[in-house]
Amino acid sequence: MVDSTAAATDHPTVPLRPMTVPAHEAEARSRTFHQVMAQRRTVRDYSTRPIPDGVIDWAVRTAATAPSGAHVQPWRFVVITDPERKRALREAAEAEEREFYAHRASEEWLAALAPIGTDWRKPFLEDAPAVIVVFEVHKGPQSPRPYYTKESVGIAVGLLLASLHQAGLATLTHTPSPMRFLNEVCERPAEERASYVIPVGYPAEDARVPDLHRKGLEEVLIRL
Ligand SMILES: Cc1cc2nc3c(=O)[nH]c(=O)nc-3n(C[C@H](O)[C@H](O)[C@H](O)COP(=O)(O)O)c2cc1C
Repeated sequence: MVDSTAAATDHPTVPLRPMTVPAHEAEARSRTFHQVMAQRRTVRDYSTRPIPDGVIDWAVRTAATAPSGAHVQPWRFVVITDPERKRALREAAEAEEREFYAHRASEEWLAALAPIGTDWRKPFLEDAPAVIVVFEVHKGPQSPRPYYTKESVGIAVGLLLASLHQAGLATLTHTPSPMRFLNEVCERPAEERASYVIPVGYPAEDARVPDLHRKGLEEVLIRL
């Protein structure tokens, strides 16, 4: 049936082409995906082994499939591989982090970070072959007002991490505080605000990670 209302003309639709999964395969596929994702760990020690071609582009394409408030897609992904720029990034980040650990972080925050073993030193910003800096795009001369920006960018970053993990690469979700210095390092305009710095690469051979416990289903799921 042809819908001749003004709304249909102004706001076109297309048929949904759903990805179909046979019902009898659904649980096995969910379990397999969980098994893959359960192996993801935040890695802070990287080897210099190169990242295979194409992987980062596919991961960014995947991130950019994320839902976003009013479909504004308020994200930018700056991929830094140039050693000079990585060094500049590390120097600027370490200057901020020195201040953070020495003065800005509360005792409570430092206590929460202690088991993770982090400090002001950020060698991974130079060792990892690539660092992806994720920016939220706010209203500006070239960009419309976004809605639910943090939520939208957070979902996109989740997909980015999942895609890179699926390709066998390690990541670190790093959030230096504050992040304004990243506009200069990444040559981005003022309406863009960095929200994540994500080193990507293969783990160093002797990489170790904190012995953390993940909450079980019974702790995180409430059925009503
Ligand atoms: C929003 C966010 C910010 C984070 N910031 C940092 C950070 O600045 N530095 C760091 O070393 N890890 C950071 N992490 C990583 C967490 O410490 C890590 O995810 C957590 O300890 C659980 O470890 P896992 O990712 O190996 O499961 C951050 C994670 C998230 C989600």
